[in-house]
Amino acid sequence: MPSPMPFDFFAPCPRGLEAPLAAELAEIAQRLPSAAGAPSFEAGAQVPGGVHFRGGWAAGMAANLHSRIASRVLLKIAERPYRSEQDIYALAAEQQWERWFSANETLRVDVTAIKSPLRSLEFATLRVKDAVCDRLRGVSGARPSIDTAQPDVRVFAFLTATNCTLYLDTSGEPLFKRGWRLDKGAAPLRENLAAGILRLAGWAPGTPIYDPMCGSGTFIAEAAQIALGVAPGVERRFGFEKLKQYDVSTWQTMKVAALDAKRQAGAKKADLPIFGSDISGDMLEKARANLARAGVPSLWLKQLDARGIVPPLEQPGIIIANPPYGERIAVRGRGPRGEVREPRHASREDGAEAFSRAQPDAADSEFFRAFGDALKQRFAGWRAFVLTADRSLPGQMRLRESTKTPLFNGALECRLFRFDLVAGSVKSRPGSQESQA
Ligand SMILES: C[S@@+](CC[C@H](N)C(=O)[O-])C[C@H]1O[C@@H](n2cnc3c(N)ncnc32)[C@H](O)[C@@H]1O
Repeated sequence: MPSPMPFDFFAPCPRGLEAPLAAELAEIAQRLPSAAGAPSFEAGAQVPGGVHFRGGWAAGMAANLHSRIASRVLLKIAERPYRSEQDIYALAAEQQWERWFSANETLRVDVTAIKSPLRSLEFATLRVKDAVCDRLRGVSGARPSIDTAQPDVRVFAFLTATNCTLYLDTSGEPLFKRGWRLDKGAAPLRENLAAGILRLAGWAPGTPIYDPMCGSGTFIAEAAQIALGVAPGVERRFGFEKLKQYDVSTWQTMKVAALDAKRQAGAKKADLPIFGSDISGDMLEKARANLARAGVPSLWLKQLDARGIVPPLEQPGIIIANPPYGERIAVRGRGPRGEVREPRHASREDGAEAFSRAQPDAADSEFFRAFGDALKQRFAGWRAFVLTADRSLPGQMRLRESTKTPLFNGALECRLFRFDLVAGSVKSRPGSQESQA
């Protein structure tokens, strides 16, 4: 039986997307029926890296199913000041984990910390794991097995300088995994970062949107699902489905409604003003397969060099792109002397650090200058949003940004540059503003 008590939830998200996530959660809350006049969802504080909210199971399940920006939805179990690993063990050992899962479920524990005085987070993780296992052995005689790859249940501990908070994960796989991505392509954007950027860009269904370096199609798949009312989580399962108690009948109603909406979207002869192109035919094939699995009818997708693009329709709209950068994936196409350029792919060991240090070479600069010219000359009246780790990009494009918003693509610090395009030049502005999303 589901507990009638409201719960405290925390939805982590990529840093920089806290405000868009709070706005999205407020919209999700409006869909929930309120029980006897009491709000079924109460918005909580935005903190760096996520948003708190309070509500019943329906709120937690709806956030899992409908949030495009959250990385997970965590259910708060307990919070208390701590000084040592022993304090953390004691807090975890007191909790009634047996209410939520049994020793038959496999377990994974993760600990994250900001300014924790503890010397080893690994040791803290072991202590939480021991406490949960000891607790279950005490009540049932059996310990759960640990499975770090595909656990049934995940417990998170979050440590600040003074407090330890324990959470039970209700999502399972992170929420950016929608279940529609067949092939990752070379450097796909995480779906929740793409969705957050659409919101930061102020895009709404009906406004034309064009990604001229669409790769595997993340921006356009997210936009099309939003336009068609397809829930991001309709094709996947969630961690709460493995817990002993959640509101099964409300979940079934929610899931059936989401599946119906997806079926209706697939049957629509939608003529969405959502456009994608890429220089790579292989990437476009991946994008097509991803869109089909995301329940989106076929969109305008063309194989084009971004330097040669023209507006796909007369009405101005939004250009959105995360161009290739650094060593991870290089600009392709013909160089200034007509030579064909092949992408340089990073070795598997190269991480975000490697490409954040990479300097643009002369041919990259030529590409971005020509791309900037294409925007200035042919996209008057459009707004362009470009996500990159390369802060020199506006200079290379010879465009002045009107805002730049700090965002994190995993560990990589990026900027979302906004350019307001007018014929032949850019709107003259006193200077760029650093905006907080
Ligand atoms: C960082 S990836 C974009 C990833 C995409 N947002 C996704 O989620 O899959 C950059 C893309 O730019 C494309 N590209 C490289 N050079 C190009 C050019 N000259 N014109 C158009 N696209 C180009 C690559 O094929 C690649 O798909």
